[in-house]
Amino acid sequence: ATISNRESKQKVAEQIAAKVKDGDIIGVGSGSTSYLAILAIGEKIKAEKLNVLAIPTSVEIALTCSNLGIPTTSLYEYKPDWYFDGADEVDPNKHLIKGRGGAMFKEKLIMTASERNYIIVDNSKLVDVIGSKFPVPVEVFPSALMVAEAGLKKLGATEIVLRPATGKDGPIISENGNLILDVKFEHIDKDMEYKIKCITGVIESGLFQNQPAEILVA
Ligand code: A5P
Repeated sequence: ATISNRESKQKVAEQIAAKVKDGDIIGVGSGSTSYLAILAIGEKIKAEKLNVLAIPTSVEIALTCSNLGIPTTSLYEYKPDWYFDGADEVDPNKHLIKGRGGAMFKEKLIMTASERNYIIVDNSKLVDVIGSKFPVPVEVFPSALMVAEAGLKKLGATEIVLRPATGKDGPIISENGNLILDVKFEHIDKDMEYKIKCITGVIESGLFQNQPAEILVA
């Protein structure tokens, strides 16, 4: 991100922090935008001595919460009062692509459990047509790989890439022990999220078409 991008994201991060109230259970998304927001929240919690619990969507953001002294909990104990996150693409229907960082399964889960959702993006994430820049990440149970690929081709996939790992040989293994496919489609209609989910072996996709959220543009 450019410096001005970062500065405007920082402003929205402070807007997010301003929403924090004593006793809140907050779902925390993953990625660089969420990181800025949780830093701002951490400062507010310290300054105002607030009691807040975070429900993290990845090991990455759980560690950040831990470093900031923000206690974490899980969906076993609580439902989030509200949730915030970034996104890779947002279209005019507020449909999203997420999962560049591979955290979309828990992101969608915790967002779905939450009462209110805020998505923070800068202008560069706004698109007219969803999928025009980013592929759709699809998390797949490992031995279901071929079955899932066949199913995705039936839905009009034009390019399917098994996401490679960095720092290890072979593909990325998600936090849930699965593989991630990055999938380009000919066309993404409004039912595509459901259709992808219907493929046996698909755990979840980074296409968010059914999760109401307020979009905050930095
Ligand atoms: C994490 O897997 C993703 O869903 C992120 O939320 C998304 O990729 C946005 O990331 P940035 O805030 O880093 O752009």
